Amino acid sequence: MSNAAEILTVKLDDPNILKEEWEKLIPTFDELFYQDESYRLSYPIAKLTPYFQNILEAIKLELGVVTEKCAIFYHDIIKFDNKMRGTTRPHVDTTRAVAVTVPIHAGDLFAFYTKQPDNRPKLTEMIKYGLEHPTIVNISNIHSTFIVEHKLPRAILQLNCYESFSNICERNKDKIKLL
Ligand SMILES: [Fe+2]
Repeated sequence: MSNAAEILTVKLDDPNILKEEWEKLIPTFDELFYQDESYRLSYPIAKLTPYFQNILEAIKLELGVVTEKCAIFYHDIIKFDNKMRGTTRPHVDTTRAVAVTVPIHAGDLFAFYTKQPDNRPKLTEMIKYGLEHPTIVNISNIHSTFIVEHKLPRAILQLNCYESFSNICERNKDKIKLL
C-alpha cells in the first residue's frame, strides 16, 4: 500500500501567500528550535498565527482527527549552516504516526523504505509534496527526506496525528487520493 495521500477536499492558497504568511510566523520561533538537529519544533497549534491555525483546523475537521500538536521544520541553509541533518537519514518517527504536510518552501522529496532481511533499508517509494493540497505521510514506516534544492530554506508545517495511516485513509477514502 502507498504511504502517502493528498487531501483533495482541502485546497491550499497560492504558494506566494503561504510564504508571506510564513514570514510572519518566523519571529514566534524560540531559540531552542535552532538547537534541534532536525531543525524541528514540536508546537501547539494554538501558538501558530491565525492563518496557519485555520489551515490545520480545517484539516483536522476534514479528516476527523484529534490532535493539538503540529511540527514546524525550518532550516535556513544560508543563515545557519550548509548541511541538512537528522531527517535525511532513514528513520521511523516514534512520537507521532502520521504527519499531514503543508509545504512552504519544500525543494525536497520524501522517500519510503522497507527493511531487507539483513535489516538495511531499501528505497521503495519517493514522493513530492503537492502544492495544491496537504499531503498525508505515513511516518510509522521507514522514511527520509531528500533535499533537492539546496539554495532554499526548507520550511514545512505538519499536523501531528497519532492514529494509523490506514485508519485515516480508510475513513476518508472518498476525500483523498493515494500517491
Ligand atoms: Fe521523520
